[in-house]
Amino acid sequence: LDNGLGLTPPMGWNSWNHFHCQINEKIVKETADALVSTGLAQLGYVYVNIDDCWGESKRDQQGNLVANKTTFPSGIKALADYVHSKGLKLGIYADAGLKTCTGKVAGSLGREEQDAKTFASWGVDYLKYDNCYNNDEKPTTRYKAMSVALKKTGRPIFFSMCEWGDMRPALWGADVGNSWRTTDDISDSWESMLKVADVNEMYADYAKPGVGMAPLLLGCDVRSLSNETMQIISNEEVIAINQDSLGAQARKVRMEGQRDIWAGPLSGDRVVLLFVNRKPWKSSMTAHWDDIGIEPTNRAVEARDVWERRTLSEPFQDKLTADVDPHACKLYVLTSIP
Ligand code: GLA
Repeated sequence: LDNGLGLTPPMGWNSWNHFHCQINEKIVKETADALVSTGLAQLGYVYVNIDDCWGESKRDQQGNLVANKTTFPSGIKALADYVHSKGLKLGIYADAGLKTCTGKVAGSLGREEQDAKTFASWGVDYLKYDNCYNNDEKPTTRYKAMSVALKKTGRPIFFSMCEWGDMRPALWGADVGNSWRTTDDISDSWESMLKVADVNEMYADYAKPGVGMAPLLLGCDVRSLSNETMQIISNEEVIAINQDSLGAQARKVRMEGQRDIWAGPLSGDRVVLLFVNRKPWKSSMTAHWDDIGIEPTNRAVEARDVWERRTLSEPFQDKLTADVDPHACKLYVLTSIP
């Protein structure tokens, strides 16, 4: 969507995975504080996104959406002001149907302009727009209506089109939203993570700056991160791959049994290479330059192991081989040596 947003994937946090409906303004504020105090905000995690259950199921007398009086007593505008005062951005959640997926908040179908205006007046920066209770009306029309309404407010609002992949938003959504979902919800298991990556991979060609790129939205409780989690999510070399200005999604370029090789172009003529070992035992894996788009072959390449933060000393000719632990991956940035 041409609204100047989403030129690289959005980074931040979303309340749903960890909190579901147990969300309130205190948690949202504390999360904003934690993003700042942990240094994550500085690394780019700036969106504080409230998911379902933030509002009342009934609109007010003017037909406006209203924040839940018990859990968000200060209202969303006050929360947005707070989040903005920390240098962060506020996201909210609505539904392209009669009510949100939990049924707890009124839906926006037929009320797109009014609700977009409300969100803009509150200072909302990001809208996740879901697909429940949609009366079987066409998604193209319903999502487009909100997209147009958001544009009309004059406030740049990142538009995240949420459904479960069955509406194939990648095929029609490029001019409608800034991101689409291609799967159902992720959960914190190896299987779920790989399934989401595998399904999403099929839509790689549709992703580009402005739309469809893999978001880095944390789903955990940012107020109590383990050291291990912090190490993973704060690796700035990995973040830089996600945020690369070229905006080209990597693809699975080769599968050997339960071992796959993913690769894609990065800015500056570099290539990102990922080994994924799905086997429950250690495995040797090899990437050949002709499979991963390094041309011409025989070029010497320098490899940076971004998880280990180590540049491998030998230049690699034609290929790179590594031992990969069970259920693990290896991630490299490859630069040709002239
Ligand atoms: C759907 C979405 C979830 C979440 C819930 C909220 O299930 O897939 O990500 O937004 O709705 O009710």
